[in-house]
Amino acid sequence: MALRLGDVAPDFTADTTEGEISFHQWKDGSWAVLFSHPADFTPVCTTELGRTAALNDQFAARNVKTIAVSVDPLDSHQGWAGDIGDVGGTDLNFPIIADPDKSVSLAYDMIHPGEGDTSTVRSVFIIDPSNKVRLILTYPKSVGRNFDEILRVIDALQLTDQYTVATPVDWRPGDRVVVATTVSTEDAQATFSNVEVVKPYLRFADAPKA
Ligand code: BEZ
Repeated sequence: MALRLGDVAPDFTADTTEGEISFHQWKDGSWAVLFSHPADFTPVCTTELGRTAALNDQFAARNVKTIAVSVDPLDSHQGWAGDIGDVGGTDLNFPIIADPDKSVSLAYDMIHPGEGDTSTVRSVFIIDPSNKVRLILTYPKSVGRNFDEILRVIDALQLTDQYTVATPVDWRPGDRVVVATTVSTEDAQATFSNVEVVKPYLRFADAPKA
């Protein structure tokens, strides 16, 4: 069965461009972004992995490790790494999993044969420090992902884990948040700043400082 939000992310041991990794042990105590790409030496994938390398400091500031996977073998990943650095402007600084037996790709339901072949589509899993799956995205092969959106979701998850708030439509870090419906308006006014009651169930407030 496909993975769902809240499930424990399947553990695995695999060869990567940074040596053999046991996933849960590797991410120990960190958030992780595990994302698949269809194939090495392809244009969209090269831009995506280059962008991820360039955003390394942004991910690290949020205690997030990134890791990519495709069904290509290790020597292919190693041969492609230089192109990723050339295109993104930053050397490859995160591991790419070699998954020629498709065991990781199948465990995460990243292969959608209706998309043309049995390589992985563009899946993204955000996994929290307790190894729970917190976000699942699936993009078609022809559409590159938006890694600013992935950072935005991580910011939202980290904020909403810490406070009884949620993030409204198009929220960006620093924007006002909505108070969780489990909190009374009286308690919201005692807890948060500048509470605005738009509807009894829709109360905006300044974002708490993380
Ligand atoms: C690409 O990364 O450009 C790509 C890979 C597989 C199918 C389509 C596009």
